[in-house]
Amino acid sequence: MSPMFVPGPVDVAPEVLQQQTKPMMPHRSKDFEAIFQRAGDKARQIFYTEHRVFIMANSGSGAQEACVRNFANEKVLSCVNGAFSNRWFTVANANGKKADKIEVPMGQAILPGMVEEALKKQSYELITVVHNETSTGVMNPIKEIAEVVHRVSPDTLIAVDAVSSLAGTKVEMDAWGIDALFTSSQKCLALPPGLALCAVNERGMERAKNVPNRGWYFDFILLEKHRIKDSTPMTPAMSSIFALDYQLDRILAEGLENRFARHSAMAKRSTEWANKKGWPLLAPEGYRSPTLTVVTNPAEFDCADFNKFLAPRNLRLANGYGDLKGKTFRIAHMGEIQMTDLENLLAAMDEYLAGKGL
Ligand SMILES: Cc1ncc(COP(=O)(O)O)c(C=O)c1O
Repeated sequence: MSPMFVPGPVDVAPEVLQQQTKPMMPHRSKDFEAIFQRAGDKARQIFYTEHRVFIMANSGSGAQEACVRNFANEKVLSCVNGAFSNRWFTVANANGKKADKIEVPMGQAILPGMVEEALKKQSYELITVVHNETSTGVMNPIKEIAEVVHRVSPDTLIAVDAVSSLAGTKVEMDAWGIDALFTSSQKCLALPPGLALCAVNERGMERAKNVPNRGWYFDFILLEKHRIKDSTPMTPAMSSIFALDYQLDRILAEGLENRFARHSAMAKRSTEWANKKGWPLLAPEGYRSPTLTVVTNPAEFDCADFNKFLAPRNLRLANGYGDLKGKTFRIAHMGEIQMTDLENLLAAMDEYLAGKGL
């Protein structure tokens, strides 16, 4: 495996990739249904939920769309502090909802007080929050935001995008009272792209029943009707599910707490390295992601050139996202990345920067 410090698609272990080469079987068969069921059961542990986890044949953006379609007739409040939370706002409006924004500049966190203020001004059926903004390395305080929503506006459903954090850090769906929580396969789960896993609680399912125009492909009620029979309304992405089933065993064998600690240790090491260079992190202390460290680039070193230097070593770093390209770079340490990989990257960076006199 060549460690890629990019926030998805991440490296996939060869034995996990191998699972995708298994022969097909009828999807409406006891054999496949058994695999589908056990993958869903194992996934619940990662979501810290007793509720259902839909295994969907689409990427995370599809789960963003599913939440707005199922949970709101009209009024959505989108918390926006980066590119992916802004995408969710766009998705809501593209689906005919009337979405308002709470917006802070990229690099800042959404604070519970901001949510409280917005919910006191107006009522909303749904609030959308991204847990870990992959464009900035900011992790929003979901537990505290959820507490505010429950207190100030108990009927507002809470949907959380944990695309770059779930399975990389603890997100306790049931304990925190999150109504829908989802991730994509190609980030902390360390699988190829193609699946989204989306957990929905009973409150969410009840709301969906009363929302018209849910569409078909993303209709939670239809998905549930088939899920309880260990199946899907449409043909499932079988090869991806073979790999998911296998990878969930690997993740649970590592132990969730061990996995989370591995990511946090790498975040700490990356932060120390950046501090030593005198390069501030974009995210303020207290809101930093354990799966992704976004470093400002005052020396304006060229990330593309650096990646050319890294290529023979089979390493790759991520440039800043969107407007932050060149102004920041992103060290993703999610999925299968180990501390020894990170040490290799940091040593290579030191060597490259020394060569540039930086
Ligand atoms: C936080 C976050 N949300 C949503 C998405 C979109 O997910 P996908 O590319 O799986 O549709 C991404 C992708 O990087 C992301 O990082």
